Amino acid sequence: MAGIVTVKLRRIQMTMPRQLPTGVTADRLSVMPPRKVRRTSAPIRRALRYMSQEELAARLGVSGRTIRRWAVGESVPKTAYITALSHLLERDNRPRYPQFSFVDLFAGIGGLRRGFEVLNGRCVFTSEWDSFATKTYKANFPDADDIAGDITKIDPTSIPDHDVLLAGFPCQPFSLAGVSKKNSLGREHGFKDEAQGTLFFNVLKILEAKRPRGFLLENVKNLRSHDRGRTYAVIRGALTELGYTVFDQTIDARPWVPQRRERIFLAGFRTPVSFSFDGIDRPASSPTLRDILHHNGEEPEGHFTLRERGRTIVDPRYTLSDHLWSYLQAYAAKHRAKGNGFGCSVFKGTDIARTLSARYHKDGSEILIEQRGKNPRRLTPRECARLMGFDREGAPPHVIPQSVSDTQAYRQFGNSVVVPVVEAIAREMMPRILQPELYPPVDEQQLSLLPSQSSD
Ligand SMILES: C[S@@+](CC[C@H](N)C(=O)[O-])C[C@H]1O[C@@H](n2cnc3c(N)ncnc32)[C@H](O)[C@@H]1O
Repeated sequence: MAGIVTVKLRRIQMTMPRQLPTGVTADRLSVMPPRKVRRTSAPIRRALRYMSQEELAARLGVSGRTIRRWAVGESVPKTAYITALSHLLERDNRPRYPQFSFVDLFAGIGGLRRGFEVLNGRCVFTSEWDSFATKTYKANFPDADDIAGDITKIDPTSIPDHDVLLAGFPCQPFSLAGVSKKNSLGREHGFKDEAQGTLFFNVLKILEAKRPRGFLLENVKNLRSHDRGRTYAVIRGALTELGYTVFDQTIDARPWVPQRRERIFLAGFRTPVSFSFDGIDRPASSPTLRDILHHNGEEPEGHFTLRERGRTIVDPRYTLSDHLWSYLQAYAAKHRAKGNGFGCSVFKGTDIARTLSARYHKDGSEILIEQRGKNPRRLTPRECARLMGFDREGAPPHVIPQSVSDTQAYRQFGNSVVVPVVEAIAREMMPRILQPELYPPVDEQQLSLLPSQSSD
């Protein structure tokens, strides 16, 4: 059996262009049977619906002129390019017959979207202002060519009607690290942080204007205790006042991924429903770091891993320099002496990592991986994709565009959500959202009280 797979894989590799399209790994190819390929320009035209000529050219490693000639039928792409293209188009994971619609606010790299889209949801609006995050988002959701930027500049009534609103509004104004940094700089935090603290109210305005059937909000655990619970009371109170039944729970991602990551989730329903976060499906057995670390047998992936003497190894760029490692050890020792706990953490394959933060790019000190006979190393961005559940069995691999630096990629994962946790929540929420009898059409009298018409 292994022999057949190897032969098939070799055959596929022979038909592939030298450079695989971003995100298509030979790993993935090994489970795909070779197909008969028709040489036409149709897939090129289809791809051009989702990405620009330049982007497609870069992904296939050809010139923009070649793409144009293929698109107008002046020449026909070689079989290898058609095969590569069909893998690229497989990423168009929009459901053909969507069961519900949703909006993705403060979208980052689309962790919340991934968790809901897989349940036959169609994303009808995305807002994210960071140009690097949108690059990654577009690479993973090829239909997302219209990403709205600053949410504070968007008229809520201009947002398409939708059934579910998703938002992981910025957490720095409420996170422990964010609050102490702002305190040390003499800056305001929480709702008083004018730049970021008030973004929750933008979410609120959209809920008020569009009245979706439900929402899922995500934030740091500290949101609940910030300002002695007053911030959280305002948030919950405002959502309830809009008529939503609100449920919340702090959930640790540990059962799904080898990472301790506690985040608060607020699920809201426009009509009273029986819902409990305790009902979400939690995996019976939990993975350890070994399950997400690169291993000898996997296909090397450009920047992150390379082949050496028949084995795949992590690129030495991720091993800490002597200087940085000495510095981190001295720093940790100083803090231990003061009784302040750990300054840096080195893990083995059998361990569970600490929370991956957006500052991981600085020195990687919160999650270092032990290496035999060498200084420890950081995780590669690919390993971070696995640690956050973006890359997992049965899902298309997460694309980390080449134009997004490691620094940006670490920041994106550190800011994001653990996808299987969101999916588990979505599975528990959606049966309630999809029951039409629970959401009767809003009557005339109620309508006159509402700022805008609901989507029902
Ligand atoms: C905590 S992250 C959310 C990450 C997201 N849930 C994910 O799965 O990747 C918050 C995001 O909000 C974005 N953001 C902050 N202020 C914004 C604004 N005014 N308009 C749009 N996006 C904003 C940030 O760039 C950041 O990506």
